Amino acid sequence: ALVTSTEMMSKADKNGYAIGAFNVENMEMVMAVIKACEELNSPAILQTTPSTVKYAGLDLYVANVAAAANKASVPIALHLDHGNSFELAMQALKAGYTSIMIDGSKEPFEDNIAVSRKVAEACKPNGIPVEAELGKVGGKEDDLECNDPGYTDPDDAVKFVEETGITSLAVAIGTAHGIYKGEPKLDLDRLTEIRKVVNIPLVLHGASGVPDETVKECIKRGISKVNFATELRIAYSDGIKDYLKDNPQAFDPKKYDAAGMEKVTELVKKKIRVCGSENKA
Ligand code: 13P
Ligand code: ZN
Ligand code: NA
Repeated sequence: ALVTSTEMMSKADKNGYAIGAFNVENMEMVMAVIKACEELNSPAILQTTPSTVKYAGLDLYVANVAAAANKASVPIALHLDHGNSFELAMQALKAGYTSIMIDGSKEPFEDNIAVSRKVAEACKPNGIPVEAELGKVGGKEDDLECNDPGYTDPDDAVKFVEETGITSLAVAIGTAHGIYKGEPKLDLDRLTEIRKVVNIPLVLHGASGVPDETVKECIKRGISKVNFATELRIAYSDGIKDYLKDNPQAFDPKKYDAAGMEKVTELVKKKIRVCGSENKA
């Protein structure tokens, strides 16, 4: 069923596992991710960034995800990832997204508070949870590039959560969007400090390329939503590329998309196991 992310995240937060949040681009990726969730009896969040929304429109993602989720045996939430304006957040809310992120992390602290609070206040009467970000996750996510990453300060985080009324907080502890050149160096002690003082679920962005054991350690220290985007895009594209290399005269999208979907399902099952959300539906 299509549900909000509230209950699945609070259950994960209480029980020491995390919900995988998987970025999808099209109907095929939606189907592939939900298939993995059903096979492992896991809840999940499917999410789209602003550039993905620009590609097909909020309504197409709502229709696709709702149709697939409503016949699935597991809870699925549809989340706006890195919402970059109050207006887009409101459009997603109206369109039927069941979870929303407003990302004001590149703005000055007070401006980030203001926009995050505005979105949280607008979503609250509708029972829609709101994620916001404090500190800057590095790397490039679609159109959003960040070359000067900055860590989340625990004291600022307390103030930020209090003043905004958000329901989950994305933290910057050294991860970056995209694949890493070397091994990422994470400030795990900082995560522990934030967890001690912040009482809402914490979100890890940029998980593609982070070793499984490191993601697990982050979950142990209090992360309850983990975002995976780049690795899914690569898996989908690689599946299609391999198929077309072996079958250069193929012209049926059902055939090559199936190859891409298989790779996505396989990868998402691995990530669900890393998150520990298997059999938590
Ligand atoms: P990756 O592309 O590194 O998986 O980051 C995903 C993300 O944080 C989406 O918001
Ligand atoms: Zn992100
Ligand atoms: Na990454």
